[in-house]
Amino acid sequence: MRLAPPPSAHSLRLVIVVILVMGATPSPVMSSGCPDRCVCDDQFVVQCAGQHLTTFPVNLPLATRQLIISNNRIAELPALALNYLSDLVYLDCSNNSLTEVSESTFGNLRQLAYLDLSFNLLTRVEDRTFGPLAGLVMLRLTDNPGLADIHPDAFAENAALQVLDVSRNNLTALNVTSLVALPALRSMGLSGNPWSCACDNEDLCLWVHVEGFKFQEEGQTVCGSPADMQGSRVGEVGLGLRASCHQTLGSWDYLFFVVIGFAIFTAGTASAWVMGVFIVLYERYVKRKDEQGDPEGRARGPRNQEREMEEAVERGAPLVTVRGTGRTGQTGRPARTPRGGARSQPGNGDRKASHGV
Ligand SMILES: *[C@@H]1O[C@H](CO)[C@@H](O)[C@H](O)[C@H]1NC(C)=O
Ligand SMILES: *[C@@H]1O[C@H](CO)[C@@H](O)[C@H](O)[C@H]1NC(C)=O
Ligand SMILES: *[C@@H]1O[C@H](CO)[C@@H](O)[C@H](O)[C@H]1NC(C)=O
Repeated sequence: MRLAPPPSAHSLRLVIVVILVMGATPSPVMSSGCPDRCVCDDQFVVQCAGQHLTTFPVNLPLATRQLIISNNRIAELPALALNYLSDLVYLDCSNNSLTEVSESTFGNLRQLAYLDLSFNLLTRVEDRTFGPLAGLVMLRLTDNPGLADIHPDAFAENAALQVLDVSRNNLTALNVTSLVALPALRSMGLSGNPWSCACDNEDLCLWVHVEGFKFQEEGQTVCGSPADMQGSRVGEVGLGLRASCHQTLGSWDYLFFVVIGFAIFTAGTASAWVMGVFIVLYERYVKRKDEQGDPEGRARGPRNQEREMEEAVERGAPLVTVRGTGRTGQTGRPARTPRGGARSQPGNGDRKASHGV
């Protein structure tokens, strides 16, 4: 017998709640009396603990501020009946047989500060289950042996949350992204879960390592897997995990550097070799050109003038003396004069003089 519409019909449910609260439809929960087997006091505390209840109590006073229904066998929290209690501050549902809570379960409990769902049969916590509980300060969610899955954003909207205990469940991993961001969170219980100490849970391990003071029973917060880490404290493997989880990336980086280094080395060696070959070839070419290219080479350069001169000298023996004495000036001239204009000596003499200078 479920009174609650599916979670998707969120607004519809709120409308129904409002209509019911306004009294449009009479309901047994709208009562100023006290439920059977419960004790109600004038402080709006309703105490129903350990009464072998199998269903949520009816005839709850609308102004109830504390409701204790622990140690019963209640299997379900009916969203409609619960959400009448908009002044509820304290709700203890521990040690019952609850198998499910959802977004609509606590849809209207904006004053709720304390919620205890420990010792139940919950298996998962979905997104936004606690979203409407804007004033929630303490949430106990321990000892649900089958609880293996908590949505990453299950507590994302509980900005007032100070104490969160998920000890002794069946959790292997917990996405801490939204938990780390909770501004008021100061105490966290994680012990007694078979935590994975592999890369999928690296962030949690690192968080416990960095903020160990926050965690209750940190000594019992140990790894359940992998086999070689069983029993190690989650906080102690945090750093090692961080190093090893990013090593895969690191080894690829090393490989990259080795390949790049080798490529640069190879390119450098090859270009040096090619340069060497070119230099040797060029030198050989220049040498060969020197050996066979003499006739051409004589035409140019000051050295060739000297050769020309030598040839000219060979043609006329007296020039040798002219050349030899030319630098002294006076002695050269008398020797030249007797020869007269038979040869074009002045031209030669001029040339030689200019060369000497
Ligand atoms: C749970 O409630 C039962 C009674 O319904 C009680 O005998 C038992 O000790 C309680 N367990 C815890 C852990 O409080
Ligand atoms: C806890 O989870 C594991 C799988 O991770 C499962 O085999 C085991 O039965 C679960 N334990 C309980 C009590 O549900
Ligand atoms: C944790 O949850 C956030 C938001 O839901 C997501 O972006 C992130 O990838 C998750 N981290 C891991 C390690 O799964």
